[in-house]
Amino acid sequence: MSDPSPRESPWWRRAVVYEVYVRSFASAGAGRSHGLGDLAGIRGRLPHLADLGVDAVWITPFYPSPMADGGYDVADHRGVDPRFGTLDDVRALVAEAHDRGLRVLTDLVPNHTSIEHPWFAEDPSLYVLRPGRGDGPPNDWISAFGGPAWSRMPGSDLWYLHTFAPEQPDLDWSNEEVRRRFDDVLRFWLDLGVDGLRIDAVPAIGKDLTLPDAGHGPGALFASSSWVGSPQWDGDWVHDVVARWRSVVDEYPGDRVLVSESVVAGPERAARYVAPGRMHTTFNFDHLHAPWEPAALRAVVDATLAALAPTGAPATWVLSNHDETRHVTRFGRRSTGVGVMGFDAGDPSDLALGLRRARAAALLMLALPGSAYLYQGEELGLPEVTDLPEELLQDPTWERSGPTSRGRDGCRVPLPWSGSAPPFGFGAEDPWLPQPASWADLTAQAQDGDPTSTLTLYRAALRLRRELLAGEEFGWDDAPAEVLSFTRGPGLRCVVNLGTEPLPLVGEVLLASGPVPGDELPPDTAAWLTVP
Ligand code: GLC
Repeated sequence: MSDPSPRESPWWRRAVVYEVYVRSFASAGAGRSHGLGDLAGIRGRLPHLADLGVDAVWITPFYPSPMADGGYDVADHRGVDPRFGTLDDVRALVAEAHDRGLRVLTDLVPNHTSIEHPWFAEDPSLYVLRPGRGDGPPNDWISAFGGPAWSRMPGSDLWYLHTFAPEQPDLDWSNEEVRRRFDDVLRFWLDLGVDGLRIDAVPAIGKDLTLPDAGHGPGALFASSSWVGSPQWDGDWVHDVVARWRSVVDEYPGDRVLVSESVVAGPERAARYVAPGRMHTTFNFDHLHAPWEPAALRAVVDATLAALAPTGAPATWVLSNHDETRHVTRFGRRSTGVGVMGFDAGDPSDLALGLRRARAAALLMLALPGSAYLYQGEELGLPEVTDLPEELLQDPTWERSGPTSRGRDGCRVPLPWSGSAPPFGFGAEDPWLPQPASWADLTAQAQDGDPTSTLTLYRAALRLRRELLAGEEFGWDDAPAEVLSFTRGPGLRCVVNLGTEPLPLVGEVLLASGPVPGDELPPDTAAWLTVP
């Protein structure tokens, strides 16, 4: 086993990063009348994050936005939507997070802006505009959320491209002026003191601007694997743009990090985003989409480490985010893998089984070498809310899919903090999506101090991870096919039982995702052990 990362390696190589979906984390006043979370709400809950033991927070967009896509339709890249607070709140949040030893990443959305961004009216040449073909759009491209990827420019013969919703026109990244403006946006946030940026939908920039037909028929780009090999996605020239962002970040001291959201066809394509001179890390969607099956999980770990080895970038691991079905629900279903952006219809879920597996999956993820991403609420074991009333659904996926796909609102329900009834201490009286009454048992307050709670498990795992996992050593142990067992240097072995029979354990159990009676690891359970 080799350890390419000495102890003094940059923080982000092994950071646990907690995703805050700002609309749904906590409210302290600014967003209260809209039922939304806000920046002051995050500041008030920094103690929760520090106690949990994460290293950093990534905060989803809080910029001025008409909220056609929950804030991923940005109308001003350097401002704060008044529903979320002010720029001074961001400054205070960064300072207070730093005081608690937490780093802060903000979200940059470069592929598109809001249709209400002043650039769209003032300088449409910054966007992808084309004449139509006959009466129709310039080509057959479809949007990620469903329906055509083109809409007519108001008052013109031209059409504008929108890879996502019609309210999100795509910028033309072959235009030097677009690149220059985003250099300035990056500098703005780096000057303000953020520790890094998560960059949204990066492969969408690499669209083929000769605009050939894609031939994938109607529907939604993300509903099947239409995006794989599509001319709408992941073309080589995106890496020129990525390298330019990196050169801007490299002007700054202090180990700032660029994190790529690159949903691409497999670990080798993803590794291209973190080749030398490009971004520092990339999300691991192959891990997020993997089913709860030993061979699939083993294959994803091997393929990830192998693809990244030549780049020198660390691996990252992730089970949930604000676009995907929460993994407690996913792992309780017959089919435990998931497609991009929750487009799966979704069978009924056995939530007790799902939670058992989710807890085991957390110990697996947190023992792997590299960095991990937690999505708010997974430390509470929250399930997806699958029965939101249709009239309350806000994700554009719902309308644009026909409506056939309920979209991503079910993983975005505001967090339950305390108390026995909604709004569970969220801070807004009427949360923008209703919380299930059954969440009374899942509040942070209810779980605090309970030795069997998921919150206690996450806190213990993060504490042990800090103590025992300094480097990036990793090696599989000999084990039966339905068991994943690996050793991380002298300090720790992780064993996950994905079979149907209890597994005898060797070594002292440091932490387990569930009871381990008689030193036998039950099915769907993971343990961290000393290495004998
Ligand atoms: C990313 C975001 C998602 C958003 C899309 C368009 O995938 O995570 O929430 O809808 O980009 O910006």
